[in-house]
Order: sequence, then C-alpha cells, then structure tokens
Amino acid sequence: MQNQKIKNNLAKPFLKWAGGKTQLIPAIEAYLPVDLTNRSDLTYVEPFIGSGAVFFWFIQKFNIKKAVINDINAELISVYQIIKSVPQELILFLKELERNYNDLRAETQKRSFFMDIRSKFNLKTDNKVENAGYFIFLNRTCFNGLYRVNSKNFFNVPFGKYVKPRISDPKNILAISELLQNVTILNGDYTETLKHASENSFFYFDPPYKPISKTASFNAYAKHDFGDKEQERLAKFTELLTEKNHRWLLSNSDPKNIDPAAVFFDELYDKPSNTICRIKARRMINATAAKRGEINEILIMNY
Ligand SMILES: C[S@@+](CC[C@H](N)C(=O)[O-])C[C@H]1O[C@@H](n2cnc3c(N)ncnc32)[C@H](O)[C@@H]1O
Repeated sequence: MQNQKIKNNLAKPFLKWAGGKTQLIPAIEAYLPVDLTNRSDLTYVEPFIGSGAVFFWFIQKFNIKKAVINDINAELISVYQIIKSVPQELILFLKELERNYNDLRAETQKRSFFMDIRSKFNLKTDNKVENAGYFIFLNRTCFNGLYRVNSKNFFNVPFGKYVKPRISDPKNILAISELLQNVTILNGDYTETLKHASENSFFYFDPPYKPISKTASFNAYAKHDFGDKEQERLAKFTELLTEKNHRWLLSNSDPKNIDPAAVFFDELYDKPSNTICRIKARRMINATAAKRGEINEILIMNY
C-alpha cells in the first residue's frame, strides 16, 4: 500500500478527537507482535477509528495488504468517505470556510458564525461535501475539539474561542485521500468488521474509555454509551477473534488511576492467551487543565 509519494508526504489525523492516540504510538509499537510484518498478506483492522492516529501511522509504516476502518459515528465516517472520493471539492469548501471565519475580527462575530455553521450541520442537507466541511470546521473551532450530541443527535459542543484556527490543510487531505483508496471504510457496530478480516489479520481496538470518574466526559462521543455492559460485550468479541486465530491489541484507560483496587479489566480479560500491561500516557482532551496530567493506560493483547 505504500508508495513514494505517501512516504514523502506523511498523512496524519485531520481531526482533534477525544482519546486520540498519537501519544501512545511508541508504546503500541513496542507491544506489536514481533513477527507481525513477516508476511506480506497482513490485514489491518481498526473498528473504533475516531481520528485514526494509530491507523495513519500503521499503514504508512508497515507494508500491509488491506486495511479496514470503522466507526459507529455516521457523520465521522462520511467525512472519511468524502476525503476518499472528492478531496478537491472538500478542500475548496474548507478554504472558503477558513477565509470567512478568519476574516472576522471580533469574538462575538466568530461565535455567531460558529453557531450558524453548527445549525447548518445539524440540519444535515443532501450535500455531503458541505456536511463534511462543517464537521471539520466545527472540530477545529468548537470547545476542545469535542464531539458530543444530544438525544436527537444534534451536535451541541459550544464555541471554542480560537483566534486563527487551521481549518483547511490541503496537503494532508490529499495525502489521506490517496491512502484511503485501498481502505475499506465501514459505518456500524465494531462487530461488523470481522466479516472483512482475512486469514492474517491484526485488530487494534480503541473503544470509548471506561470513564475514569463519574464526571469525566471522555466517553461522550456519540449517542451510543459505552458502559460496563459494552466493555463486556467487546471482551466476548475479542475471545471470538482469538478462537479464529486473529491477533488483537486493545487500549483503554486504567480504572486503577482512580481506584488502585479496581480490577475490572484484569478480570474481564483474564484468559491464558491474554497479556495485560500498564503504560504511562498523557490525556490531552479534558475540560479541566489540571486533569491533563500523566495517567496509566492499559494495553491488552492476545499474544
Ligand atoms: C476512543 S475513540 C477512538 C479514538 C481513536 N483511537 C483516535 O486516535 O482518535 C472511540 C470511538 O469509538 C466509536 N464507537 C463507539 N461505540 C462504537 C461501536 N459500538 N462500534 C464502533 N465504534 C464505536 C466512537 O464514535 C469513537 O469514535
């Protein structure tokens, strides 16, 4: 999948995303199976893609045959599809949004521009390029780049007060578009990805975090909650993958950060084939600056 152009012009995540994994890449690399890339028929599967930090790194670093990405967030997946199919149209639209927004001087003007785009995005017109442009615009200009919707699936994150945010990044969008040409993009529950796995597949799971405190908002990605029952369903799915001889690595927040006696994941993934490690990570998206410190992240793998 690699080619010279991509190597020279590295594609990187185009969104800020709660739980974005850029910080964790060196640790993830250290824990990959040693023989992972010995064969040339590897399929990389990322069922909770979000902003795709690990995906972009992985598919440009290793020579893989096929990649499959998925997320339950339909609006997010639609942006990936638009970047894949009509990047130039999206770039033009983003440039216009960026110019119009950055030309405004007063914060009140910027705020009302933001609110206007937010309403347009929530109306969801038939124009998928515009919807994708609004999605990226809101991500760059809303509070902390959060994605949160109410029960009607209306995006409701407030204005972010950025003075001159970068909204359009043409080089990156073109590099991503090229990469995505060979990628299968799915929008559904993570279990759907299994149908697209091949004999030699590696899954990287980064599900919504188990909240580290009752007030933490890390798991407010979409209208779909990801509580303990969902974590248990995911653990069962990983067992199925193990039965089918697929290898997988999963990351999550470590409940021991708040309660040293918590053993939720230790019990859930207590299988002879699994390994559980704890590593240091930095949390970037948190409403409280004081809580953006170093915490433990948990890595679980079946090899
Ligand atoms: C922690 S984020 C992934 C962050 C990503 N690793 C990154 O670097 O940006 C979790 C993602 O899971 C998605 N999600 C939640 N429930 C899901 C489900 N049942 N199936 C698939 N995706 C789901 C959310 O929309 C969110 O984008």
